[in-house]
Amino acid sequence: MSGPPVLKSRGLLGHTRAFAEDPLGMFSRLLDTFPSEEVVRIRFGPFMDYAVTGADAARQLMLGGHDHLVRPWFFNRVFKEMSGLNLFTANGEEWSWRRKMIGPAFHSAEIAGMADAMVSIAERVAGSWDAGDRIDLREEMTSLTLEVAGRALFGIDVTAEDRGRRLAQAFEGMIQWTNHRVERFISEPVWAPTARAVRARRAIGVVDEIAAEAVAERRERGGEHHDLLQLLLDSRDAETGEPLSDYQVVSEAKAFFFAGHETTSSVLSWAWLELALHPDVGNALREELTQVLGGRSPKLSDLEDLDLTRRIIEESLRLHPPAMVLTRRTHGAVEAGGYRIPGNRGILVLIYAIHRNPKYWDAPDTFDPERFTPTRSEGRPAHAFLPFGEGPRMCVGSRFAMTEACLMLATLAQRWRFEVEEPAGVRPDTRFVLKPARLSATVVG
Ligand code: HEM
Repeated sequence: MSGPPVLKSRGLLGHTRAFAEDPLGMFSRLLDTFPSEEVVRIRFGPFMDYAVTGADAARQLMLGGHDHLVRPWFFNRVFKEMSGLNLFTANGEEWSWRRKMIGPAFHSAEIAGMADAMVSIAERVAGSWDAGDRIDLREEMTSLTLEVAGRALFGIDVTAEDRGRRLAQAFEGMIQWTNHRVERFISEPVWAPTARAVRARRAIGVVDEIAAEAVAERRERGGEHHDLLQLLLDSRDAETGEPLSDYQVVSEAKAFFFAGHETTSSVLSWAWLELALHPDVGNALREELTQVLGGRSPKLSDLEDLDLTRRIIEESLRLHPPAMVLTRRTHGAVEAGGYRIPGNRGILVLIYAIHRNPKYWDAPDTFDPERFTPTRSEGRPAHAFLPFGEGPRMCVGSRFAMTEACLMLATLAQRWRFEVEEPAGVRPDTRFVLKPARLSATVVG
């Protein structure tokens, strides 16, 4: 079997710069140059990575189990600095027992318990705006999801109590540090004696302290709670029946924060931008909300009737997947897309390219939520849409995220529309999570 074709490059660094500066342009180039291939090789300096642009090859790789693929250290290192060893950062056996313990616990009771809190947070924010207000929608969505994270992960209101505000500031400090690290191929580690690293360590210290306090309080007082903190406290090792230690609960809560916060705020931001660009879809959304809710607050059970609301979120996730690329390293040889990939090679599953591959999607660059109706989805391979990944390492928080995004969209869109400034000129920000670079808007009643 010969290897997959190679995307031509010049110079010693190969595609390193193009990938860092314009990854979306590079994904389009791959699709245009090799329309019938599912795996293509691209060069990063001395290394040749395998980029996956097809649904079947992605399925072959991702469903194959965790034993032949691992998350590479380069991408994990920043998350580890922030959150330690947890479901997101662990590999192999260290990952496997965590997943068996936490995965099944992510069931509906905890999500249902959080749904009302999500809606009341969105209602409070919607109530704080007036028609004509100028806001930055991206910042607003980030504050909303931060507030949900504070409640769900630590039972803390980040807008009220003093420690809540300290927690919010510290979360932001951690995000700033993460952005600083992922933007640069070479940067100082968190233990370095630079002012920036000292600030990051302080932020981690504050989150650890407040999180440990919240865990201790919850253990002491007991009571019935349905949130992510309780989910972690109730998780039991499948074999020994042992719970997580306090330290492990805090690490896992931080993993949920890192994996779930910016991703969810990003999909909401993209959805508002697309609605501003497609007022007809916005009108249809408001019609659906009036019909199903008749002006009352949404509940979790309404989601099954809010079809268009869900399709808008799905289509935003397709066009703008917050996790654009999944990275893996092969242990041994694997097969995908008709090729054999040797061991110890880098794999990039290009979710963004698969989501815009014309083999699976008509007019792939067009926002069209109707493509997710059952009729139009017929015959499309399931793995043509994988915003939450696939296989054993698929996102554990996908239901939580979909619930949060749909409830927030429904609650806010019932009350307000947003006129986005120059919507057609909004550029993507590809650092870390794919998000709109800016989203200034006027609130319209
Ligand atoms: C729109 C929102 C979200 C998107 C697009 C998203 C996407 C993803 C993707 C693509 C992966 C797989 C990464 C890989 O295979 O390398 C993943 C993993 C993960 N996600 Fe999410 N996620 C979202 C929200 C959340 C939320 C809300 C939580 C927690 C409450 C969460 C927790 C996790 C964790 C812990 C993992 C690691 C799972 C493992 O390795 O076993 N995510 N997410």
